[in-house]
Amino acid sequence: MEFPAGAKMRSVTLQGYFTQSLGAAGSADDVARHAISVVKSVTGDAVRRKVVDATKCASCHEWFEGHGGNRVIGRETGSNAELVCVTCHVPNMATSGHTITDAQWSARNAAAVNTSAGWSSDQLRIFGEWGVDMLLTPNTALQPNMPRVTNNFKDMIHGIHAGRDRVVPFKDARNFRGNATLLDFRRMDFPGNLNNCQGCHVANTYSNVPAKALLTNHYFRSDAFLLAPDIAGATSSMLQTNPQDVTTTPFAGACVSCHDATAAKSHMELNGAKVNRNRSEAVTAIEACAVCHGPGATWDPVVVHK
Ligand code: HEC
Ligand code: HEC
Ligand code: HEC
Ligand code: HEC
Ligand code: HEC
Repeated sequence: MEFPAGAKMRSVTLQGYFTQSLGAAGSADDVARHAISVVKSVTGDAVRRKVVDATKCASCHEWFEGHGGNRVIGRETGSNAELVCVTCHVPNMATSGHTITDAQWSARNAAAVNTSAGWSSDQLRIFGEWGVDMLLTPNTALQPNMPRVTNNFKDMIHGIHAGRDRVVPFKDARNFRGNATLLDFRRMDFPGNLNNCQGCHVANTYSNVPAKALLTNHYFRSDAFLLAPDIAGATSSMLQTNPQDVTTTPFAGACVSCHDATAAKSHMELNGAKVNRNRSEAVTAIEACAVCHGPGATWDPVVVHK
């Protein structure tokens, strides 16, 4: 794999399982051990800013084993290390659950429950509670009750942990090789103080976003896809950014991922933000938030969250 020409913030990560072979290759000793992931920046390149501390996540998730134990953070990550998650969970990353094809969906419907070819009873229960119509055709996965949401790290991690403090709790659906990975935080209560930002953050990192921070993307939508919505168009929409992608401006993205009440969103939009608006509209928006909520301002998040 190559870095794009001109890349200035390059890093390499080591993730996956660690196998120490003691006997002959393939012997019973060859056990894949889950291991802490590491990130190494290219010497001389700019190093990405540090926002949260993995050892703080570890005060609840002793080892957070993301992605089946492939991407792991924990105490042993150390406070100074870069976070493996943000090498992939970038502002444009949005979910893919709505790209499951009708053929894949109906094949799972037809197979027995709790077999590898069929749905699990957990999936069926979640789909049922979300109001997903399993038999709707065509474009089963495009129905509105299938969540389309960002996987940008700040919005996703705030959204997950805000649980039912949010008006609309965070839901996530992924197309994982034609199967659905579903996350549902409607019953989540944060086992700490949600307004103690330093439960996750390093000091001085939660009153602002960098000047060139990018829009959070929730939903890739090409013009062609919107004209004739189908699964193929939803899938190809994800290959590039599009003027009609559903996006949120970066300062608002940090706040609305917990404060999602209609009045709060309206307050943000009145002050320059765009919340779930077309990229073409959001990209030129100028947010005034820092005037009142920036570092040292009267309503600095450090002051208002106690
Ligand atoms: C005060 C405790 C606490 C802290 C601190 C905390 N979390 Fe969590 N987190 C939870 C709880 C509780 C859940 C819900 C567990 C569940 O869904 O089974 C959760 C769920 C998650 C999930 C969703 C897991 C899944 O796949 O369902 C992710 C991802 C996550 N946390 C990442 C993080 C990261 C990254 C940090 C640090 C930046 C962090 N958490 C800090 C308590 C915490
Ligand atoms: C090598 C890239 C990569 C890394 C590193 C990575 N992720 Fe992901 N993550 C993805 C992709 C790709 C998806 C799927 C998005 C989709 O298609 O909906 C995803 C999805 C998720 C989801 C949504 C549900 C799921 O399991 O599919 C959670 C939660 C998540 N990641 C947490 C984390 C956390 C926490 C870390 C760091 C410990 C992390 N990820 C590191 C690529 C990555
Ligand atoms: C459960 C963990 C968790 C808690 C609690 C939390 N955050 Fe965050 N926050 C994150 C993560 C993860 C990111 C993204 C980190 C990254 O980009 O490296 C983030 C990013 C941010 C950013 C963007 C910073 C930047 O440089 O882009 C702001 C602003 C922010 N959070 C505000 C807050 C405020 C205010 C609170 C307290 C009311 C808070 N957060 C509580 C996990 C948390
Ligand atoms: C991790 C979740 C989280 C994030 C992120 C977050 N807040 Fe809050 N915020 C809270 C909680 C919880 C309270 C306390 C609300 C209560 O007690 O009813 C609060 C309270 C406030 C208050 C005091 C007024 C009130 O509603 O009680 C302000 C102002 C505020 N937040 C602004 C912000 C701004 C600006 C951002 C973005 C930079 C932000 N918050 C990000 C969770 C969050
Ligand atoms: C002119 C000053 C000003 C500007 C600009 C401003 N705010 Fe506020 N904001 C306030 C005040 C005042 C409150 C109420 C504080 C309180 O109750 O403690 C507030 C409250 C909030 C809250 C808490 C809402 C709730 O749930 O109660 C959030 C979140 C927030 N602002 C985000 C933003 C964002 C994002 C922007 C930029 C798009 C922004 N604000 C711009 C002054 C401002």
